[in-house]
Amino acid sequence: MNIALIGFMGSGKSSVGKTLAKELHIDYISMDEEILKESKLDSINQIFEKHGELKFRELEINTAKMLPNLDNIVIDTGGGVVENKIIIDYLKKNSKIIYLKTPFETIKNRLKDDKTRPLFNSLKQAEELYNFRKPLYKRYSDYNVNTYRKQPEEIACEILRIIKNDQNS
Ligand code: S3P
Repeated sequence: MNIALIGFMGSGKSSVGKTLAKELHIDYISMDEEILKESKLDSINQIFEKHGELKFRELEINTAKMLPNLDNIVIDTGGGVVENKIIIDYLKKNSKIIYLKTPFETIKNRLKDDKTRPLFNSLKQAEELYNFRKPLYKRYSDYNVNTYRKQPEEIACEILRIIKNDQNS
């Protein structure tokens, strides 16, 4: 089994994912980093600028395809995976999906000066996207963790507890 973290941009998937993998002594993979490798470009922004979002989503599906072949790994997904049922189905094959639930206010504060996320350029559009995706994160997750005012270590600890209970049930 793998552990896949889902949630909106800026919800802490990367930092929590790395901490969690360390605690469990298992590997960590970032879907965005894999997509970047495949694209041979330097940044996610460049993929969006040169080839458009559709191409990015295509690369995202390609990356997701290999996930069912992996085992015992923490998967850091991109915030948009919940909009693609094909990707969710790949994740569901052998991952417990954990939703990092984070208020938009927190995300806004974290990402206000961020220039690396093409879908966070307009605050209004980002908030609309957040509201649109919120029910999808809930629908597709096995468990959710409230991250409000918590450090990555604390969140990772909660996830560890959840996974242990899940294995015992
Ligand atoms: C996206 C989120 C980003 C990245 C891309 C698109 C999205 O990942 O995959 O910019 O659609 O929400 P993070 O959630 O890691 O920022």
